Amino acid sequence: MTEIDIRPAGARNAVHPSIDADGISRLVDTFYGRIREHPRLGPIFEAKLEGNWTPHLQKMKLFWHSVLLKSGAYKGRPVPTHLALKSIVSSDYGEWLAVFRPVAHEVFEAEAAEAVIEVAERIAQSLWLATFGFAGSDVPGALKSSGG
Ligand code: HEM
Repeated sequence: MTEIDIRPAGARNAVHPSIDADGISRLVDTFYGRIREHPRLGPIFEAKLEGNWTPHLQKMKLFWHSVLLKSGAYKGRPVPTHLALKSIVSSDYGEWLAVFRPVAHEVFEAEAAEAVIEVAERIAQSLWLATFGFAGSDVPGALKSSGG
């Protein structure tokens, strides 16, 4: 007999079944709270978003909702946005992930956190490649978890 999956689309496609909108909201609020205090990355965000953090956080919740729950809620083009941020240097993507990984583990249980980190690393790698890569270049080790 064919089984019919009656879970909502988000739960069916999520990168991990325990991830929900509430967790994503905490992920974004905690991560950006942390990044604002980061000595190197904080000023890059502040220069762009000063006085405008609320819409940015709303956008980032839609973005993570889209990538973690496969909801299609975010429609945007992160590559040109980051290419336009001329103060980003190569090592900044590793710094970004070094802030992100522990936050993912604070918000989600271990298996879900690993899945979320894998997605973040993949996106960080593609942003790095778009900005600093050339034919045949390998992404920095800081953009990969030790396992991969
Ligand atoms: C070097 C590390 C990074 C820095 C300094 C950085 C900085 C920023 C800043 C300042 C903005 C706002 C730009 C604007 O409103 O014009 C932004 C937007 C955004 N960032 Fe990053 N970012 C970094 C890495 C990442 C990574 C790794 C991801 C994904 C995993 C990401 C996802 C996004 C998205 C989705 C947006 C919204 C783009 C849009 O306007 O649609 N960023 N970032």
